[in-house]
Amino acid sequence: MTPTNHQDFEHDLLTALSQTRKHISPKYFYDVTGSSLFDQICELPEYYPTRTELSILKVHAADMAQHMGPKAELIELGAGSLTKVRYLLREMDAPISFLPMDISGAHLNAAVDDLSLEFPQLKINPIVADYTQNWLLPTPLQGAARRIAFFPGSTIGNFSPNEVQEFFANCVAYLPGGALLLGVDLLKEPRVIHQAYNDAQGVTAAFNLNLLARANRELKTNFVLDQFSHWAFYNAPLHRIEMHLVSLKKQEVHLADQVFVLEEGETLHTENSHKFSIDGIQKLALSQGLEVGPVWTDPQRWFGLLWFDIPEQAHSNDPPFIRSKT
Ligand code: AVI
Repeated sequence: MTPTNHQDFEHDLLTALSQTRKHISPKYFYDVTGSSLFDQICELPEYYPTRTELSILKVHAADMAQHMGPKAELIELGAGSLTKVRYLLREMDAPISFLPMDISGAHLNAAVDDLSLEFPQLKINPIVADYTQNWLLPTPLQGAARRIAFFPGSTIGNFSPNEVQEFFANCVAYLPGGALLLGVDLLKEPRVIHQAYNDAQGVTAAFNLNLLARANRELKTNFVLDQFSHWAFYNAPLHRIEMHLVSLKKQEVHLADQVFVLEEGETLHTENSHKFSIDGIQKLALSQGLEVGPVWTDPQRWFGLLWFDIPEQAHSNDPPFIRSKT
């Protein structure tokens, strides 16, 4: 972990603990332990998004690759274990390079080593960065036709509405003339969604609680893990799963020479995972200047891979995204 991340984590946890409604970014789930727990979540029978998205890629990767065209540079945002992108790389016509970007350097480098065994000819340029902060992209390689961002897994669902707009605005700003292939978890029966975040083996609970374990390891907090419980529920009006850590009793937490009291039943809100309609997410992208392209889904329409073209030049002089006043 870099010193900056350490400071960010401490700062954000201090802010969260100081507030009445305590909320921290889900990006802090992903240390080495958290990334490996997330990989286990992706294999769970209840967690349908990963296998559904993979099933769409298996059927439609060739069509997607056709849209990319020859000599594309493929960028994967939040790259993780690089399982899904293989389906695209196998079908792409002479890709110029692959730039996987992820916040967790150790995890990314191990995945890149593995990927290069399957694609020995491919230029792979891993970028350890937080794409919610800045897109540290090198200049395109000579001969590159187009830059395509691949953002699978419905990670966009973990963004706030403002962050979604900011994300689309960044696509327009950083990938002129390029395209975006976006994975989104679609609206469906709440029972199915609820089960995906409340698995029988308790892996999602361990993933959630790891945030406190990570704080103990890195920030020397004194969270007692069995005094907290994992709570995930579908908030239907807001179309999102909310994950919280519930304090099971009144307790004191020490962080950076400060003491915070958590009441019994008080929660630390750790994640939102929004579910979208195809039309809804397309409207958000259109509002930031992207152009709507094809959509690939599974037969149940549980998950979608959506294509967006990015114009050469932004259409207006409007600010790239609009923040609400709150
Ligand atoms: C990474 N992200 C899309 C996952 C999700 O479904 O929101 C993270 C996750 N949280 C609990 N389970 C999986």
